Amino acid sequence: MIRRLPPLLAAALLAAPAAAQTADGAAIYKRCAACHLATGAGVPGAFPPLRADIRALAGKPDGRHYLVLVVTKGVSGPITVEGKPYRGVMPAQAGLNDAQIAAVLNHVLATSAKGGTAKPFTAAEVAQVKAGAAGMTPAAIGKLNATLTTK
Ligand code: HEC
Repeated sequence: MIRRLPPLLAAALLAAPAAAQTADGAAIYKRCAACHLATGAGVPGAFPPLRADIRALAGKPDGRHYLVLVVTKGVSGPITVEGKPYRGVMPAQAGLNDAQIAAVLNHVLATSAKGGTAKPFTAAEVAQVKAGAAGMTPAAIGKLNATLTTK
């Protein structure tokens, strides 16, 4: 099908940046919903909600950094979310590229964390956070939770 398109258009359709921008956050979120539920409400005591806290976190540089790290590398508690303690383990979400991680975080901001004013995540921001966090463990990321300026 692509072979029948004019060469320039075909090249534009195949270009990596175009693909990156269309990463489907809603589709990717299905894997998060297994634990955090489709609404992002979570399960008390087990899986934290992805609501007001996430919106507040996404409004501050250290919170944005933390959110990207949680998704890319996982997190293990104790952490505090909406004032409640969690002592679980979230596995690193393997197999997602930087654009997909940005897209799923933007999906959470646009749906479960309604009304936020935080700017959207980009693939470049995700790449930058990952580059500065080589070797960081889920436990170390959990410890960051207590230091966040939104807490
Ligand atoms: C296998 C279950 C599981 C899956 C899948 C999962 N999470 Fe989690 N997530 C958790 C658990 C458990 C915690 C809390 C860990 C703890 O207690 O330290 C958590 C914590 C978080 C936090 C930190 C919340 C806060 O306010 O500090 C965010 C953000 C998050 N998850 C987002 C996601 C996103 C986005 C996805 C999908 C890409 C996802 N999670 C997939 C289980 C999961």
